[in-house]
Amino acid sequence: MSAIPQALGADVRTQACPGGPLLVRGAEQVVALDGSVHDVLRPVVALCRCACSSRAPWCDGAHKMLPPARRPGAEDVR
Ligand code: FES
Repeated sequence: MSAIPQALGADVRTQACPGGPLLVRGAEQVVALDGSVHDVLRPVVALCRCACSSRAPWCDGAHKMLPPARRPGAEDVR
């Protein structure tokens, strides 16, 4: 799965969690896959990369219920 929300800001830094979300630091806004724009009110947020979150664009931990081969980034470690 390659589609993830987009983080906007002057000094955005990202870190992909293996098998989980994309951690984003310094974002001011996030644009979800449906085009909705969300203000970021925390210094660090976790964006869903698995498309299974019920709180998209935020990670809600649903990726933990996926089989390891279907978790985000699984295709990167084969
Ligand atoms: S990455 Fe955590 S719910 Fe999708």
